[in-house]
Amino acid sequence: VTWQTLQWIGGPDGHLTCIDQTRLPAELVLHECRTAEAVWEAIRQLRVRGAPAIGIAAAYGVVLGVQAVADDDPAALRRRLDEVLAYLATSRPTAVNLFWALERMRQVVQTAPPQTPVSALKEALLREARAIHDQDRVLCRAIGRHGAELIADESGVLTHCNAGGLATAEYGTALAILFTCQDQGKRLHVYVDETRPLLQGARLTAWELVQRGIPTTLICDNMAAQLMREGKVQAVVVGADRIAANGDVANKIGTYGLAVLARAHGIPFYVAAPLSSFDLALASGDPIPIEQRPAEEVTHLAGQRIAPQGVAVYNPAFDVTPAHLITALVTERGIIRPVERAAIAAQVGSHAPSPARPAEPAAR
Ligand code: MRU
Repeated sequence: VTWQTLQWIGGPDGHLTCIDQTRLPAELVLHECRTAEAVWEAIRQLRVRGAPAIGIAAAYGVVLGVQAVADDDPAALRRRLDEVLAYLATSRPTAVNLFWALERMRQVVQTAPPQTPVSALKEALLREARAIHDQDRVLCRAIGRHGAELIADESGVLTHCNAGGLATAEYGTALAILFTCQDQGKRLHVYVDETRPLLQGARLTAWELVQRGIPTTLICDNMAAQLMREGKVQAVVVGADRIAANGDVANKIGTYGLAVLARAHGIPFYVAAPLSSFDLALASGDPIPIEQRPAEEVTHLAGQRIAPQGVAVYNPAFDVTPAHLITALVTERGIIRPVERAAIAAQVGSHAPSPARPAEPAAR
């Protein structure tokens, strides 16, 4: 592939470009962000989306947010940093990668000696954002390698939403596993849930898979059970927005239903995610904040009203799949199986995420 989900252009005074994912697959256009507000808007509007990509974009958003601080005022930089971190934390509530990335940015300045010049702090913030971005490229490959071991040749694989290159620096998490299988010569057939209401599966995942020449069949979300009954699915592979200490997984709405269906049909259900998607501060998935999105996403399809005025709408963007329905988790460190607290702590525990992350606002 020749596109880049996110790209920083220039030095500390530079800017961010992201593929505007709301315009795919009709057109591949870049969206420029020159302020923290522009990054916030791009995240909220899902121009940039997918848990790891949200974290990377937010890190660059911090760099943008401190650009206007005068070079002779280190105290102002620290004040502005706090403001920008708190602000970007309100863009979306569910993916913990956002708070994890913002915390990494906070620590750059917090751990710098008090007399560090503003220009050096700005450079250090850009270096950290670039590191978050570069590390994501590397870990996605590792997730792909580990996860490919779980998928047999000639499998039918069902995926949901988009956990591909567009949702990460590149290559993806769930889709990285399928791309790696392809590189290994395994012949897969991938079934893609369209993923209502915003169609990340139809618009983004199908686009990535077709581009790579992987045999791909698009289905509506309500067709998965019949597909499984017909014996066409040997594995389900999805990504995650937040994984609790017990292995409960928040991911795109509809994931939980797929896990129930997979269990009913005896099909393995795999979740692929980096360590930055784990939130070990949460004992279970119950307290994970579930983003509630505008009713228009459900009442309208491609700008056209499809439901009557006045109807009530429920539009949670995520659901929580209980750990007992998950066959294995795949991280950059390997496979976690069975999905239990101790096994998770053993692999993820030494990864230190955010001790003091920004307050997470309740969903709108
Ligand atoms: O609302 P979105 O499109 O940001 O939701 C994305 C997902 O649910 C993905 O599956 C998840 O973020 C993992 S991306 C590697």
